[in-house]
Amino acid sequence: MPHTMSKLETARDFERREAAKIPASCRPGFHLTPLVGWMNDPNGFCYYNGCYHLFYQYYPYNTVWGPMHWGHAVSTDLLHWDYQPCALAPDTAADAAGCFSGSAVPLPDGRLLLLYTGVQPAATGHKEQQAQCVAVGDGYNFTKDEANPVIPTTMLPEGYCAVDFRDPKIWTENGKYYCVAAARHQTEQGTILLFESLDGHAWRYVSVLDSSHDALGKMWECPDFFALDGVQVLLVSPQEMRATPDSEFHAGDGTVALLGRYDPVTHAFARQKAQAVDYGLDFYAPQTTQAPDGRRILVGWMQSWATANTAPHPKPWFGRMSLPRELHVRSGRLYQCPVREIETLWRDKTELTGVTVSEPSELPGIHGRSLDLTVVVDAAASPDCRRFTIRFAKSTMLFNEIRCDLDRGELAFDRSHGGSRRDAPHTRHIKAVPQAGKLTLRLILDQDSAELFVNNGERVLSAVLDTPLEAKGITFQAEGAPVRLDVVQYRLE
Ligand code: FRU
Repeated sequence: MPHTMSKLETARDFERREAAKIPASCRPGFHLTPLVGWMNDPNGFCYYNGCYHLFYQYYPYNTVWGPMHWGHAVSTDLLHWDYQPCALAPDTAADAAGCFSGSAVPLPDGRLLLLYTGVQPAATGHKEQQAQCVAVGDGYNFTKDEANPVIPTTMLPEGYCAVDFRDPKIWTENGKYYCVAAARHQTEQGTILLFESLDGHAWRYVSVLDSSHDALGKMWECPDFFALDGVQVLLVSPQEMRATPDSEFHAGDGTVALLGRYDPVTHAFARQKAQAVDYGLDFYAPQTTQAPDGRRILVGWMQSWATANTAPHPKPWFGRMSLPRELHVRSGRLYQCPVREIETLWRDKTELTGVTVSEPSELPGIHGRSLDLTVVVDAAASPDCRRFTIRFAKSTMLFNEIRCDLDRGELAFDRSHGGSRRDAPHTRHIKAVPQAGKLTLRLILDQDSAELFVNNGERVLSAVLDTPLEAKGITFQAEGAPVRLDVVQYRLE
């Protein structure tokens, strides 16, 4: 009898053939891109059997979003990723319209459990439904639970919509499994619900952890929940946010860290602070895991829904992950720094101490598109300098710009002259106040992406660049009076 390929076999066969046609030179240096086709959210991020596993929302057949599969890659250093065969395809009644975002946890018997959202197609008299499903395997091949969905929409408390119930993030605590999932309440909008289980398969609803109350956006997506430095952190990715006057949040899809206290007995979360996770143009749906050495590592989708569909898709892949970041809470704020593994990519250090800049100038040895560049602006030693500007990925015609208004303690990240032909958001403004007289800017370029870490991780902005790779120039300029800088650059390889 002829063998009919399953959806998963078809996807694996397709990606194997198509990926062979994509040269490594067509991808960034150390940011993960999909094996073929489309990528969105990071999924199932975990350390398992000696390496990091990172799954992702995946549509292998085109560079636009489609019925969701899970792509898969593994790494030992979070920078070099080895592609693995597609892990999940939408091939059962519980997930026929898509295997949406989810997470992973190792089981006591050594297997890996995936908890993800199965989307059931609309049927006569019913809208599409989202519910939580389980698949268990050896890290590479998974078997879906026959009882899926294991967290059905009937488990939702009163007032929640079965069409918006997704993105479970699982962890173990005191011998039990817990997960947070996003659900939309008819009036409260974005809400994070907590569920618990003794075995990862049979679940029960526990409590509401937090809601938007229709203030921090509408539907919340992709929650994560963990203790860090004595504080409880709830991460959410809200849709349809309103911009706030203090430029903490911009309009549209955002990423928010809610910091507070968690009572593990009553399962109540008391929010004390809300801040943005990333203030840039391309960042969404971050997920964390804990490294074997205890570090809390975060990775996000380095793209935005607002522009993903109108962006040019010139490559045989679309979408990428951010550089993984180490998280900390300091003085009640979430701080993020590039994973320290990036130091293994450092080559050719260029160090310039106490340089003074006024007219637009290049600095000796400072240029390129794959680099880790730290600029410390000595604001205290330059009291009359009002504005300081760095242009990067610069050619004669094109440039991207970081403008620091030292008077107002603000910074603008602006890619509007970077080569885009689209009428899309290209600028973000954030607070950037010198600390002890110094403003520290760390810019990581990986060809066509930029990640800017301000004041040692106090704020981060991520953006994809439209600028051709030949534009390698970097210039510095001060207005009002000269500025004094310390500059350290490493080429990344
Ligand atoms: C976030 C998201 C998730 C969903 C997935 C679908 O970007 O909308 O809520 O699970 O993408 O691909």
